Amino acid sequence: MQKIPLLDLKVMHDGIADELREAVAEVTESNWFVGGPVYKRFAANFAAYCGVDHCVPCGNGTDALYLALWAALGLGDGEGQVITVSHTFVATAEAIAIAGYQPVLVDVDPQTCLMDLKQVEAAITPDTVAIVPVHLYGQMVPMPELNEIARRHKLVVIEDAAQCHGAAYDGYRPGQLSDAATFSFYPGKNLGAWGDAGAVVTNNESIARAADMLSDHGRRTKYEHDDVGINSRMDAIQAAVLDAKLRHLDDWNKSRRQIAGWYRELLEDDDSCVLPAVDPKAQHVYHQFVIQVDDRDCLLKHLNNEGIGAGIHYPIPVHEQPAYEFLGHQPGDFPVTHELCRRILSLPMFPGMTRSQVEHVCDLVRSAVAV
Ligand SMILES: Cc1ncc(COP(=O)(O)O)c(C=O)c1O
Repeated sequence: MQKIPLLDLKVMHDGIADELREAVAEVTESNWFVGGPVYKRFAANFAAYCGVDHCVPCGNGTDALYLALWAALGLGDGEGQVITVSHTFVATAEAIAIAGYQPVLVDVDPQTCLMDLKQVEAAITPDTVAIVPVHLYGQMVPMPELNEIARRHKLVVIEDAAQCHGAAYDGYRPGQLSDAATFSFYPGKNLGAWGDAGAVVTNNESIARAADMLSDHGRRTKYEHDDVGINSRMDAIQAAVLDAKLRHLDDWNKSRRQIAGWYRELLEDDDSCVLPAVDPKAQHVYHQFVIQVDDRDCLLKHLNNEGIGAGIHYPIPVHEQPAYEFLGHQPGDFPVTHELCRRILSLPMFPGMTRSQVEHVCDLVRSAVAV
């Protein structure tokens, strides 16, 4: 049986093993494990990569979202509303709630699985303070259109870019058209650390300064604290790994696009499989390659039995999670999301996956959906 995992980090890491070893050695030899020159270098390089003025590295993507909201709006008192989607990883809603705001959920577009902008406009109330679009699976929400809505209603926009390192919309990267964008560098992301890590990127100097201070105990100098902050700093070893991997991100994203192209070529004639829709203005980086099928659970079981690591991102939407019962929703409140969670399946996708591996997955998909 030919086993193929959903994600194989080994292919990426083995290819640059010497660079990674040297990067980690630089930190261990410097004995500077939090902050320091490597940390600063990664922050500067990632800001330049994103085409923004500032990058504030932090502990993880959830903290990044929370810090960005806190830096842009202050901590909420539970009254202010922040609009986001139910079809996302739970951390999006979680960060909004922890920052003291009410997550107000909207449905997604059935083709792209991204925030339905018509619903955003309809969800705005006098209590709305911000919008958090989620660039799911590696494709960005149309930011110019979203910004136009936000500007008209004077709302802050924080992009959840945890799944789209290197993506663009109409040539703009996350953080270039909004107040700030936040990234996760969880190991499985397109740019992944060797543990937890995250970052806030922004062109807004006051958001950058506030996020930086809040992530480091609200300190102005070593022992002067202007705010009650938290400890969410990126380890220097993670910064070193990320800095080394950043040099290869564009090549890896290119490989992901090639793999997506092979999936499309091999599955496009199969009417039982809905392939991911791409907005012509979007530069997709395929964090996941997500198809939709009628009998998803049967296909998932078949692939798993054959040694293929398919996944579901995500099987239970935010509004159907016990933790978010307090929002008072019924499953059918967001019908597209509800239905998608039963139809979506993420196929194996990682840089370096070979054409013959993609062919094998597609043969198995076709034979299962044809039954
Ligand atoms: C869309 C989205 N937002 C936020 C996060 C949270 O990132 P982290 O796990 O680094 O806290 C993730 C991570 O999986 C994510 O996929």
